Amino acid sequence: MMAPMRIADFALERYFARWEFAADHLLCASDVEAYPMAEMLALADDETRALWDRLHLGYTESTGHPLLRREIAGLYETLEADDVLTFAGAEEAVFCLMNVLVGPGDHVIVTWPGYQSLHEVARAAGADVTLHELREADGWALDVERLRLEVTPTTRLIVVNAPHNPTGMLPDRATFDALVTVAADAGARLFMDEVYRGLEFDETDRLPTGADTQADGVSLGVMSKAYALAGLRIGWLATRDRELLARVAAFKDYTTICSSAPSEILAIMALRARDRVLARSRAIIAANLELVDAFFDNWADRFAWVRPRAGSIGYPRLTVPGVRIDDWAAQLVETEGVLLIPGSQFGQPGNHFRLGFGRTDLPEALDRLEAFARKTLR
Ligand SMILES: Cc1ncc(COP(=O)(O)O)c(C=O)c1O
Repeated sequence: MMAPMRIADFALERYFARWEFAADHLLCASDVEAYPMAEMLALADDETRALWDRLHLGYTESTGHPLLRREIAGLYETLEADDVLTFAGAEEAVFCLMNVLVGPGDHVIVTWPGYQSLHEVARAAGADVTLHELREADGWALDVERLRLEVTPTTRLIVVNAPHNPTGMLPDRATFDALVTVAADAGARLFMDEVYRGLEFDETDRLPTGADTQADGVSLGVMSKAYALAGLRIGWLATRDRELLARVAAFKDYTTICSSAPSEILAIMALRARDRVLARSRAIIAANLELVDAFFDNWADRFAWVRPRAGSIGYPRLTVPGVRIDDWAAQLVETEGVLLIPGSQFGQPGNHFRLGFGRTDLPEALDRLEAFARKTLR
């Protein structure tokens, strides 16, 4: 009998395990500066305040609190509460969905470089995975014509993360429509990782969701990024394919069973106040981006920078001959306490690195980066 395939380490999470709570400044974080508890509670309406005050800390409904699922469904055009299933973060949702959806004999196409679990879990489940490479020379854009050529007769699933980690890529509407057509022509399901949705720099660039666009399309969402509440560990899958959702719910019985009771209530509060929550996130990012742009303007002869269109992260490249980003970033964190993520953590050779601009300590972190660059790159 064949031994079951072991899943590979999640490189970026192993890197964070070493540095996340040891470095002074995470100039690579993908989440937005988290809400302090008191500020979140101040956003509560009467109903959520009462839910919070009377909360019993027992098990919760395994599909998610009905009010939470209703709020989440409200983020979509065509969905109802029963089209939503909650998880402990987006990460658990990816793990459960891929295990249910694909296996040996299935071909899956996934955008890359990217969040490792989007391709690693499918591979560990036995699927044949093709990485759809995004290229700096294309401004990191999806190449829909190339994607069409990557389709095979067994392509079951096309996984696209947009707004994208780590590049900040967001397809324009024509490219998104072309992607939907490729998936339809292939008879493949679209799985859209939309965890950075809501952080478009120009709100008119916001795309329709995967779950609204395709009858069996699946959207992935989370409270961690645009909603600045990573510590809640509340994520979700949304799809009108209820049969699929039921199968994923059955799989979840082997992972967390149900969500954390306090987190569910806090997530309902945040979603009801989402205009204010998103405005806060977008304001932090807009202020930080000005500084990041100025930095890359000053250092245009040392770094290549494709400006993101959305999200809280970008993927610049160190262009100084003979300086390897892995070495430079290691020295940076050791001497200045500023953490970047080299592209090698995404499995990509070369000199790219992820830079995050969702945290309020960015001005200080960027000052230290600048000082280090002056010492080492002049
Ligand atoms: C593209 C993408 N998908 C999913 C996730 C998982 O989100 P969470 O850590 O909140 O579960 C992340 C987190 O960085 C991400 O960047």
